[in-house]
Amino acid sequence: MSGPGAWPSLLRRLRWRVRGIRMRLRERSPMTLLKYAEVALLGRRASTWCYNFPSHVLVELTTRCNLRCVWCNQADDDWRERHGDREFDYEAFLRLLPQLKGAKVIQLYNIGEPLMYPRIFDAIAEARKVIPHVRITTNGTLLTEEKSRQLAQAGLTQLNVSIDGTDPETFKRVRGIPLEKVERNLDAFCRLTRIPVQLWTVISEANLDSLERLPDYATRWPNARHLHFQMVNGFALTDRAGTPWVSSAERFERFRERVLARCNELGIESNISHLNYYPPGTLERRRDGTCRALFTEQVAINHAGAITPCCGFSSFSLDEVLSKGFRAAWNGPSVRAWRRRMLDRDYGPYCENWCGFKKVRDADGLDAPVEAGGG
Ligand SMILES: C[S@@+](CC[C@H](N)C(=O)[O-])C[C@H]1O[C@@H](n2cnc3c(N)ncnc32)[C@H](O)[C@@H]1O
Ligand code: SF4
Repeated sequence: MSGPGAWPSLLRRLRWRVRGIRMRLRERSPMTLLKYAEVALLGRRASTWCYNFPSHVLVELTTRCNLRCVWCNQADDDWRERHGDREFDYEAFLRLLPQLKGAKVIQLYNIGEPLMYPRIFDAIAEARKVIPHVRITTNGTLLTEEKSRQLAQAGLTQLNVSIDGTDPETFKRVRGIPLEKVERNLDAFCRLTRIPVQLWTVISEANLDSLERLPDYATRWPNARHLHFQMVNGFALTDRAGTPWVSSAERFERFRERVLARCNELGIESNISHLNYYPPGTLERRRDGTCRALFTEQVAINHAGAITPCCGFSSFSLDEVLSKGFRAAWNGPSVRAWRRRMLDRDYGPYCENWCGFKKVRDADGLDAPVEAGGG
């Protein structure tokens, strides 16, 4: 990009990047930032010991869901057979919570619908006693007026609602239900509560055009001042669902520019400037090379009370937390061995297929085994 016309756009992107960084800083503790810097600067030579307590914790309360969105694991019969319809035992959750003291944010969902967890409101209220920010991400279908009030009473600090298209056809193609139902529920939620809302959306070729309207669309809800974008994960799943990656980097860049500009005009925040494009299906190494999920990004605990490599890889238990204790597991041999693999960029098929991390054989003469270690 060159010429005088490029400057406003560059400045705008810079401003939004700074805003995004400020937001991240607010949610991360100083020790986590130090660990982030260590991994970034030392690469393979970084330590697998994490002196930082994770700033973000995600706890999978349920793997039940009332929808089968096309690119979700829930749409995979085999996945559901092996992992679906499981729940975190509530008493065990209460025992886990004090061990998570020190985290700044807890997200009470994973691959399932949190509003289907029978004690979701109690879980939120108990979590608030220990962790300042408590969030859920919901498909919005069960968000009745009564539940909206209960979420406010429980002390929820942020509601994320998944919106994968701004027109009824696109939304229905992805989520299989009428958009209007979710819109009406969100109308009521914003009328009844002041809880901040983030609209969460997954980007693929199949819904990209519809998402360009998202900043304007979001203005319908006074609580929705933030858009959270993520690239669709899981190449096998998305190919099968006919929702492939955005067809070219140029197309994605144009989309990003327009969304950024419109967000800027409307005063809406978004994370779009942090997303990376990498070619579909090629498993190109991601720009920053190392997955930081178990270093500085959030730690995920599945319904069985086990630390897992990330929220997507929740079926693979690294270490047990409930009897062992979170701190012991966080720096226990299994989790540290996984961190070693990430530092060595020894990514197995799951990381390659789900997130696009590519094992690097040529860098630093690495030649480690490829197996995923579970699934
Ligand atoms: C798995 S859902 C669970 C919470 C809730 N059921 C919902 O749909 O919001 C959490 C988020 O992951 C997103 N998601 C699902 N499948 C995905 C995929 N293959 N790649 C990226 N994000 C995905 C959803 O759109 C949603 O925003
Ligand atoms: S994305 Fe959420 S609502 Fe859709 S199937 Fe997956 S868990 Fe259910």
